Amino acid sequence: MRPNVRLILAATVALVAQSLITSAAFGDGQNVGKVVKARENNKMLVVYFSKAGENYNVGDVKTGNTKILAEKIAKQVGADLFEIAPKIPYPKKYDDCTDFAKEELRKKARPEYLGEIENWEQYEVVFFGYPIWWGDLPMPCYTFIEKRDWNGKKVIPFITHEGSGASGTPKKLEKSCRGAKILKEFVMTGTQAQKGGAQNDAKLSDWLKGLKY
Ligand SMILES: Cc1cc2nc3c(=O)[nH]c(=O)nc-3n(C[C@H](O)[C@H](O)[C@H](O)COP(=O)(O)O)c2cc1C
Repeated sequence: MRPNVRLILAATVALVAQSLITSAAFGDGQNVGKVVKARENNKMLVVYFSKAGENYNVGDVKTGNTKILAEKIAKQVGADLFEIAPKIPYPKKYDDCTDFAKEELRKKARPEYLGEIENWEQYEVVFFGYPIWWGDLPMPCYTFIEKRDWNGKKVIPFITHEGSGASGTPKKLEKSCRGAKILKEFVMTGTQAQKGGAQNDAKLSDWLKGLKY
């Protein structure tokens, strides 16, 4: 085989492998990097970060804990939906992932994510979902936050964890999402998010009613 043909072949194999890893860690891959629209000119958006694979107390899951809540919230309020899916997927094994994330936190890494939101200006209300990682938001959330103008937006955090609670992250959002108003957060353990089923719909609905959504 000619060297340049071999090079193209190797690059293609690498690209396919990368996309397979990404789709394994982030659902079916169909909507990765895209806004899933509930309607045209929607004023409400649900943005979230969530990781499938092995996680604390829930085993090896196909759908991340926060993603389960994100989809329920989007459905209840009729919001558009965007997943912050990292370009380089996190390790699927829990211990590998915690080690990796600890190092990212130490370095204040800003990992890139796939795709982008067009028409960011049109959204007035942004539900922002994330798991607690080492007492903080996962670093790709900061990449997302620091890229855009938050002035005048209402930001509503929803958070999953396994014991730390919100870990003061709504305050961190207040600092990072400059000019936004941070409303009352929803907090739940990942185990409950994963296993709570219809019970969680009611819990979310109560919280949303309290916020008048
Ligand atoms: C890298 C990493 C770090 C974590 N750090 C914490 C933590 O500091 N406090 C805590 O309560 N849970 C921690 N957890 C547990 C997650 O917050 C919890 O499992 C969450 O529901 C995961 O959400 P996801 O499935 O949407 O990614 C951590 C999990 C991972 C993978």
